Amino acid sequence: MIVLGIESSCDETAASVVDGNRVLSDVVSSQVDVHKIYGGVVPELASRNHIVSVAPVIETALKEANTSLSDLDGIVATSGPGLLGSLVIGLQAAKTLSYATQLPFVGVNHLRGHLLAARIQDETDTPIPEFPYMALLASGGHTGVYHVRDWNDIECLGETRDDAAGEAFDKVAKLLGLGYPGGPVIDRMAATEGDEISFPQALRQKKSYEFSFSGVKTAVAQHVHAIDGAPGESEMFAIVRGFQKSVVEILVRKVVLAARQKQVSRVVLAGGVAANSGLRAHAAEICTQNDLTLFAPPRKRCTDNASMIAYAGLLSLQAGERSGFDISPKANWPL
Ligand code: KG4
Ligand code: ZN
Repeated sequence: MIVLGIESSCDETAASVVDGNRVLSDVVSSQVDVHKIYGGVVPELASRNHIVSVAPVIETALKEANTSLSDLDGIVATSGPGLLGSLVIGLQAAKTLSYATQLPFVGVNHLRGHLLAARIQDETDTPIPEFPYMALLASGGHTGVYHVRDWNDIECLGETRDDAAGEAFDKVAKLLGLGYPGGPVIDRMAATEGDEISFPQALRQKKSYEFSFSGVKTAVAQHVHAIDGAPGESEMFAIVRGFQKSVVEILVRKVVLAARQKQVSRVVLAGGVAANSGLRAHAAEICTQNDLTLFAPPRKRCTDNASMIAYAGLLSLQAGERSGFDISPKANWPL
């Protein structure tokens, strides 16, 4: 089955063609330069840019996959959760194409896309996780631990009580004047050797799968305010290393705890923060210590992309699911 997927839930306009769990094309047009000067995503600007990009991105995805609309078996788009003004653009594009071509259409949950991304076969020898697995989903909008029993049987075991992990990276980067988005720059700085400031890890001893990241963000802010003047370069690096360590350790601790308690042997990383090299290295170490098999998809499958949406939608279409043209985008849509 060959499916076109469209993703526009935040500030990436993306389209992808997949054939089963193989990616034929994967086009992502990032708006990061539009939002950078504001230090975060401006929803109105995001939707306007989706309008400009959506058709060319779809055309490029079809071209790069060497396909045309007549080769497709279905069309899918992210229908939530996300920014309403952004979602509506990709969703409307998908509905229009489906109406014009008479191809089946289904709306996809963005979180389900992230959680199934590890099952996309990038290289013939890439190991992909069988079900069930325990997934850590850490992105800019969501952070939680999910028990993935099957593609359509996913249970959220616990979420963040406040900020998402990616949001904490972005806010701390902003606070330190490191620019937007914060994740990649903090990742690079934290990968260097040197001192680190110790920051708290909320809910560390609690045997739940909940997170809280507003405390570490405040702790970083208080630390910076206590310094006389602006932090120097080595102080800045020490703050960044300590912040990343605090976030990474708690993320890995909770997903490993869940895997052990639910006796699931596979751990999967998902979402933009799963691109973090410190997280990937720490997860590999702790999973080995606990006899768990870790699956960390390529970075481009962790950050927002349309191949994960196309693949998740393809599974729904194969199961006979269809959405009507009356579906609306959902800002909130828990799994
Ligand atoms: O999954 P994603 O692309 O979009 C959402 O669904 O939110 O995640 C975006 C988030 C941003 O907060 C970004 O700072 C973070 O993922 N991120 C990273 C890294 N790359 C992206 N965080 C830590 N380390 C990275 N290398
Ligand atoms: Zn996402």
